[in-house]
Parts: sequence; C-alpha cells; structure tokens
Amino acid sequence: GKGLNHMEKRIAICPGSFDPITKGHLDIIRRAANLFDEVIVLIMVNYTKTNTAFTAAERVEMARRVTADIPNVRVDYYAGLLADYARQQGACTLVKGLRAVTDFEYEFQMALTNKKLYPNLETLFLTTDIQYMYLSSSVVRQVASFGGDISEFVCPELLEDIQKRLAPAPGVLPNA
Ligand code: PNS
Repeated sequence: GKGLNHMEKRIAICPGSFDPITKGHLDIIRRAANLFDEVIVLIMVNYTKTNTAFTAAERVEMARRVTADIPNVRVDYYAGLLADYARQQGACTLVKGLRAVTDFEYEFQMALTNKKLYPNLETLFLTTDIQYMYLSSSVVRQVASFGGDISEFVCPELLEDIQKRLAPAPGVLPNA
C-alpha cells in the first residue's frame, strides 16, 4: 500500500456523532488544526446512537458553519468504518478529546479496535479544556429539550437552530 511519507501532508481526523457539535468539540478541532496540516471533521454513525436529533446533512452543515474560519479544516460524512475512511484519505492520526475517567474505557476500546483494523493509524487524545469537562452533545440535547439555556455550550451561530429543533412546545413541559 501507500506508506506514509514525511513529505506528504499530515492529515488528522476528528471523528464523532456531533449531534450537535459543541464548543468542547470545536476546542479540540481548533487545537488539532494547530498540530496538523489538515483536519477532517468526520460526521459518523455511532452504532449505539442511531436515533440522532439531527440528520447527517444537518450535522455536517452545522460543523461546516462553526469551522468556516479555520482554513485547514474540512467536514465530511462517512457511514462506514473509520479505519477504512482513514486509509482512503491517507490520514495518520485520529484526534479525540478526553474528559473524565468515564470516557476512558470506551475510547480505549475504540482506539485499540481502530489500531487493529489499520495499524498505521494513531489515536491521539487531547485533554479537554477544564471549562468543557462536563459538556457533551447529550447534555446539550437534554438541557435544550427542557427549555434551558445552552448558550454556554454551543456556538452562537447554531444556538437558534438547535433551540428550534429541541425546545419543548409550549404547554408540554412535564410540570406545566
Ligand atoms: O461522538 P461519538 O458518538 O462518541 O463517536 C463515536 C464514533 C462515531 C467515532 C464511533 O462510533 C465510530 O467510529 N463509528 C464508525 C464505525 C467504526 O469504525 N467503528 C469501529 C470503532 S469501535
């Protein structure tokens, strides 16, 4: 196959469900963009989370909007194996954010599986910024679906779209 050549562009992938993309994701993407020549934000299918709040096309579009100012970032969608996509693109590294210990076992399992499927591919964990320690897409979905303020969690340009999709209809709050 095509071995990685040090003269080639170093391409990293930030994979995930991004349902929706959060400020925590964006922090990891920006930091990855500082480390690599090119970063692909890859919207994927998580086998355990097939009931997404946003369609693949919506997740891609939102990720494009918030990364538009980062010249070496592009956004893509792939419904197959991450290892296969990485091989096709000649990517050398997967970059993931690591928050609490609770992320560790799950991320370790995925990293070892991807390594098995594509031995040339490394997984690099960046320590989350302390302000995003407890942030996740599911926290965003939960807070928004009860009508709570998510402006600390998502980029301003996505706020209205996310609220529109997830906000409770008037009169349907559990305690209304
Ligand atoms: O944001 P998430 O949901 O934690 O991301 C998980 C994701 C989408 C990266 C993972 O489910 C994945 O890699 N899906 C693609 C299928 C695949 O390659 N699975 C093998 C890794 S165990």
